[in-house]
Amino acid sequence: MSNYGNEEINIPTPAAVPRKIQAVAKATIADDNVWQWIHDAAASSPIQPTVNLGTGFIDHNPPEFLIEAHKKALDSVDSNQYAPVTGSDLLRQTIAELYSPLYGRQLNPVIEVCVTSGAQYIYQIKMAGGTTRYIPLRPPKSQQKTRVSGNDWSLDIAELEAAITSKTKMIYLNNPHNPLGKVFTVSELTAIGNLCVKHRLILLSNEVYERIGCNPSHTLTTVSLDKLLNATGWRVGFVIGYEALIQPVIATHLVLAYSSSGPAQDACVVGLREAEKRGWWSVSAEDVGARIRRLCRALDETGLTYVAPPNAWFVVNIDKINLPKEYKYPPLFGIASIPGSCFYGPDHKALGERYVRFGACKSDAGFELAEQRLALLRPHVSVSL
Ligand SMILES: Cc1ncc(COP(=O)(O)O)c(C=O)c1O
Repeated sequence: MSNYGNEEINIPTPAAVPRKIQAVAKATIADDNVWQWIHDAAASSPIQPTVNLGTGFIDHNPPEFLIEAHKKALDSVDSNQYAPVTGSDLLRQTIAELYSPLYGRQLNPVIEVCVTSGAQYIYQIKMAGGTTRYIPLRPPKSQQKTRVSGNDWSLDIAELEAAITSKTKMIYLNNPHNPLGKVFTVSELTAIGNLCVKHRLILLSNEVYERIGCNPSHTLTTVSLDKLLNATGWRVGFVIGYEALIQPVIATHLVLAYSSSGPAQDACVVGLREAEKRGWWSVSAEDVGARIRRLCRALDETGLTYVAPPNAWFVVNIDKINLPKEYKYPPLFGIASIPGSCFYGPDHKALGERYVRFGACKSDAGFELAEQRLALLRPHVSVSL
């Protein structure tokens, strides 16, 4: 019991929280603790300041037209109040208009689009009481010695099918993939699509790193506007799918978030239209490309091998690193990274143990620091393996 104003209220003790919810929270925290752990490890590094190459924290601003649109939206009375549950009319219309040509069919903005708070994560499956089976992407044998492409990582379709049981409801796919940047081939997508049809499964296609995907009637596609527009703090994304699939998404979004930020949605309408009009997508792709090339150069100088990234993530092989015995890893000489094992399910963690994830979403100052820190690592990298 506690006093809140004049009212006595019951504050549940942790033990009073239903077991199932405790279990989900525990599993989620255990899985996701890496983000907090990296933060703490970076803070305790003897080499300061550390450069955070691990997380997707973008240390430069979204385009000016987007910032201006957000500022303007804050002056509008309507924008500052609850947005409709499924998203502002204008944003859904804009999404339908811009994405219909990519899907090759007319999207209905009223019943086939739901604006969400960012793109969805796997933890909602756990919250709903679902069980997740992870099917790993396996590295090519040559990865230890040479630089390879993320597309060379492979998915065993037979292994995927073997994991399907009579209880399976959905296949969750991330394409293009974080962190490999792998874009699944038409034949891989067709095989996955065929499994969905054969076993009557929904395909949840997480496409936060791309603007287009395949969209058979079994597919729900998630897109992240905050990622597309370099504004990850805004928490605006959306889901596209046929009405029967979108209805449960709307119901879930209603109870989880109710609606997403109104001013950010208004700004995204302008952002999407201006990005199209000004050809900003290619400007942005070129900008990301330049950042990738800069990090590639710095990594090449260390002699480490890594996955050549089609998007802004790097998967770096750490086999060649010989750290002094007493050196506590991580962070690697003042460089915070994400261990590769975090991207695998419990049964396949070993596949990711010899890799770390770096991101190229840094500013010039961030790169300068990264270059200095990578130079400290160089003497510990073996030339031959
Ligand atoms: C594959 C993938 N899906 C979803 C997200 C989250 O997107 P949002 O910030 O829009 O929630 C991320 C962020 O890193 C991601 O990499």
